[in-house]
Amino acid sequence: MNEQQQHVENVRQSAEKIRAACGGLAPKIALILGSGLGGLAAKVESPVVLAYRDLPGFPILTVAGHAGQLIVGRLGGVPVIVLNGRKHFYETTDAYPLKTMIRAVKAAGVETLFLSNAAGSLRASIGVSELMLITDHINFLGLNPLTGPNDEAFGPRFFPVTDAWDPGLRAKIKAVAQREGVTLHQGVYVAFRGPSFETPAEIRMAQGWGADAVGMSSVPDCLIARHCGLKVAGVSCITNMGAGLSDEHLTHAHTLENAARGAAAFEKLVIAAVKELV
Ligand code: HPA
Repeated sequence: MNEQQQHVENVRQSAEKIRAACGGLAPKIALILGSGLGGLAAKVESPVVLAYRDLPGFPILTVAGHAGQLIVGRLGGVPVIVLNGRKHFYETTDAYPLKTMIRAVKAAGVETLFLSNAAGSLRASIGVSELMLITDHINFLGLNPLTGPNDEAFGPRFFPVTDAWDPGLRAKIKAVAQREGVTLHQGVYVAFRGPSFETPAEIRMAQGWGADAVGMSSVPDCLIARHCGLKVAGVSCITNMGAGLSDEHLTHAHTLENAARGAAAFEKLVIAAVKELV
């Protein structure tokens, strides 16, 4: 089997295991939890947990703050699949593990992917530990996960990403945030490759491009999901001001600490929102 055939087989086998774990549930939404936002996994009711290592082709995780578990259950009564952890493009250039995760949940019946991440703010008006609804993105990874041979069974070679971050889902999430009293900014997310944080000059460049938050994830996830026809929504939890915008010292520990501080609002918003998104 070549790499592509192996991938197709991994997606099939993983989807089968996920469907088996669902039992009587038929989740229509999957959530990918970003750095420091894994606490939501513990809020899943009647959880069935699959370790990524038991799902063929899923990523093997190495970064602190990422658990590597797929959890099936209910959030606020709604059937969901929670993907707690993912691999970033600062860890590998192999997009297959991420493709397997997303295509397997699609094959298991999911229609909507809710993405989350920790991000740096590029705007004085968007504060640390606050949330930002992603309206659009800039792919500055220097890499597109769909590069290489295209498998038409998953999606087309060329596809538009004009409304990649679904306007209908965004309107619903905004309404929920307002109702629940959760501060929710909105803006454009730019993905840098990392693993170094940005320089102040890069942050000024990204501001000039019209980006509002900066991170190292979620853009590949969105592209893979849109390619295979999933609807996408996403929220950034702001863990710091972009480099040079404040005098704080940027560290991953700091990211996790401030994500934990924003996690309560994130969990409240997501649990209230999933009801409206399926
Ligand atoms: N830059 C890139 N990624 C990040 C940041 C940042 O400032 N904060 C959290 N993830």
